[in-house]
Amino acid sequence: MYRSHNNGELRLEHINQEVTLSGWVQKTRDKGFMVWVDIRDRYGITQLIFDEERTEKAVFEKAKSLGREFVIQVTGKVIERQSKNKNIPTGEIEILVSKLDILNKSEVPPFTIEDETDGGEELRMKYRYLDIRRNPVRENLIFRHKVSMEVRNYLSKEGFIDVETPYLIKSTPEGARDFVVPSRMNQGQFYALPQSPQTFKQLLMVGGMDKYFQIVKCFRDEDLRADRQPEFTQIDCEMAFVEQEDILNTFEGLTKHLLKEIKGIDVEKFPRMTYDYAIKTYGNDKPDIRFDMKFGELNEVAQHKDFNVFNSAELVLGIAVPNGNKFTRKEIDKLIDWIRRPQVGAKGMVYARCNEDGSYKSSVDKFYDQDDLAKWAEVTNAKKGDLVVVLSGDANKTRIQMSALRMELAEILGLRNPEKFAPLWVVDFPLLEWDEDTERFHAMHHPFTSPKPEDIELLKTEPAKVRANAYDMVLNGNEIGGGSIRIHDKATQEMMFDYLGFTKEEAQEQFGFLMNAFTYGAPPHGGLAFGLDRLVAILGGQETIRDFIAFPKNNSGRDVMIDAPSKIDNTQLKELSLKLDL
Ligand code: AMO
Repeated sequence: MYRSHNNGELRLEHINQEVTLSGWVQKTRDKGFMVWVDIRDRYGITQLIFDEERTEKAVFEKAKSLGREFVIQVTGKVIERQSKNKNIPTGEIEILVSKLDILNKSEVPPFTIEDETDGGEELRMKYRYLDIRRNPVRENLIFRHKVSMEVRNYLSKEGFIDVETPYLIKSTPEGARDFVVPSRMNQGQFYALPQSPQTFKQLLMVGGMDKYFQIVKCFRDEDLRADRQPEFTQIDCEMAFVEQEDILNTFEGLTKHLLKEIKGIDVEKFPRMTYDYAIKTYGNDKPDIRFDMKFGELNEVAQHKDFNVFNSAELVLGIAVPNGNKFTRKEIDKLIDWIRRPQVGAKGMVYARCNEDGSYKSSVDKFYDQDDLAKWAEVTNAKKGDLVVVLSGDANKTRIQMSALRMELAEILGLRNPEKFAPLWVVDFPLLEWDEDTERFHAMHHPFTSPKPEDIELLKTEPAKVRANAYDMVLNGNEIGGGSIRIHDKATQEMMFDYLGFTKEEAQEQFGFLMNAFTYGAPPHGGLAFGLDRLVAILGGQETIRDFIAFPKNNSGRDVMIDAPSKIDNTQLKELSLKLDL
């Protein structure tokens, strides 16, 4: 028996019991005549004591030889501590050790196994198994487990069936590049790893499964960011005989359940806003609505004077920064520098202080009088003590810049409270999106998304205006899920591929299997997928998904621990009939 208890378990009530513990040496303190060792496992830390008088000599000497991260097993008696540590649950007791076995030695670890470690990111990733011994990483993984168990339980209770779909498939167009896998048995041919199980879950609906879910790995060869990994996990769901409303209600229910069970938070009905409203009001389709600072369009109240910068702009946008009048000139200059960085790209920023006495002081007083500035305040909903900041220029660019500035200001003002949760639905996404590079329309969500029936006519005349039955769930400024009602008849799906620039042959070659399935009685259906990594990170109060993945990739898509990707040898290449041309 390796242990009678774990290292987080013993209390005063266990005094005088003989116990056996196993774990890692967290640290040792050697006072000469007395040695204390902290032994650690997943459950906690227990203090061991060895002393010259009460401990057998050989055991005492062995205790002195222990190093950090040695794996040990001890047997001893639980005794009351003289100086108690109220910070840990086992802090009132210690173990007077009579038997000590070293189960395995350890090299000195390359960084400290502490909550605040001295190890940098790259080093921690290289020795991720040591990193996982640290409390914050372990707790994140346990947190992820809790979330995914809640998801499983909830969906299973709601009648969803967990079905596994294949990983070696044909490319599914979700907008990113595929990772491909060469086939040895079918020389010169390749599988693709799924960007999502999209077509399979639709086929499961044709197969009558009615309600499907899967917590599933997806693979996308795209540029990485804090909220993107090349392999990530979706909570993938699909339902038959549903309308958009049924889907929104079902998954709002799941999200509410998670917020309640995991965070103890009750959330009212999720607000819904259209894509157009989100873009006009927040400058992006995943607004953080934990705070206000809604966009006010100032064209009408700012383009009647001689200020050319505004007069020549397509859009003049303002937001009211709460209590922003407290910003010093220096702080405002810093903001102006910030928006001029190439990543944001604004040329400049105009501002108006809203003084407590009801007067205004702007950076363009030469052009605008008190009445003008009062109108700016009215449009942006600014109150006394606020600061109105204004950007102008090309409409799309200005919205994107203002959206970035809004988030930066929220960060500066501490408004992005990770313990506050503000979910919402963004609905009525456009069906199509113009792609400058290829000069053609792409499906904004994916090609299986159904246009709104009332907009279908517009496909011929104004395709950019066609709205889709597509929706995203947004939580604290992050897109945590998205989905749509699908096309379920062959003719519409064919028409869609046609609009997307596929020839009949290409559509048949790539998606014939799906369109054929539609001819055998496909039910109306729809679904969505949550990004589990993102959901978990945000529920955990963070935005970097790497911290919630056991073995993540770095920003160049590498696993630095196993050193992947890597070259394969010539025999393997030959077997796959691959020739590298580098
Ligand atoms: P979508 O492409 O919107 O939809 O993906 C669903 C959710 O997955 C998460 N996500 C990612 N998370 C981490 N790293 C990535 N590289 C990454 N890419 C996406 C996001 C996103 O909201 N088949 C459709 C779903 C459907 O229509 O039912 C799909 O995959 O949180």
